Amino acid sequence: MINKLLVYDTKYGSTEIIARWISEEVKDIEVKKPNEVLSIDNYSLIIIGSPDYDDEPLESIRSFIDKFKEKLKDKKIAIFVVCNDIEEIEYEDKKKGGKYNLDILKKYLPKDSIVLEDVLGGVFNPKILDIKDQERIVNFFSEIGKPVKKEDLVFMPIVNKLDRIRCKKFIDNLNKI
Ligand SMILES: Cc1cc2nc3c(=O)[nH]c(=O)nc-3n(C[C@H](O)[C@H](O)[C@H](O)COP(=O)(O)O)c2cc1C
Repeated sequence: MINKLLVYDTKYGSTEIIARWISEEVKDIEVKKPNEVLSIDNYSLIIIGSPDYDDEPLESIRSFIDKFKEKLKDKKIAIFVVCNDIEEIEYEDKKKGGKYNLDILKKYLPKDSIVLEDVLGGVFNPKILDIKDQERIVNFFSEIGKPVKKEDLVFMPIVNKLDRIRCKKFIDNLNKI
């Protein structure tokens, strides 16, 4: 019996790879993009995965949560956030990254329903960003005092924090629910 639903979205592919790793090792699971979900009635566990873009999930994930807000209160929910800052950092007296990145989803969800949560690393590839994201990254580096030109982004290194072993721990915990 299928009783787990994994809902994820991705912009550049990292969250999709993690969704695939999860689907390969968790039994009785269906994997869908937010716009493919018509109902969550038949599932007891909803797993929600989103990348972090400027401390927000993707809009499609927010819409999914909003659409099923009431029904999600009666489900078990597991969340994973895919991002670059997998460790906590202090920046201008603000704590960011690591477990704080979970808040990008937790702030929209019924907290009592969350039974599992994790922060997983993805790939940040400055060479393939669309124009809007190039601008966001240029603004970010200027804000932290390390200005970079849009045309120089292609020369920045790819940061790959995809980590199957870290993900396996999340999968093992999912299988215990
Ligand atoms: C414009 C932009 C903003 C980002 N903002 C954050 C952020 O606020 N915190 C973070 O840890 N990572 C941030 N990242 C890194 C992404 O979360 C990371 O690259 C992730 O793997 C993207 O997932 P996807 O390939 O599934 O879309 C950002 C990346 C881009 C391009």
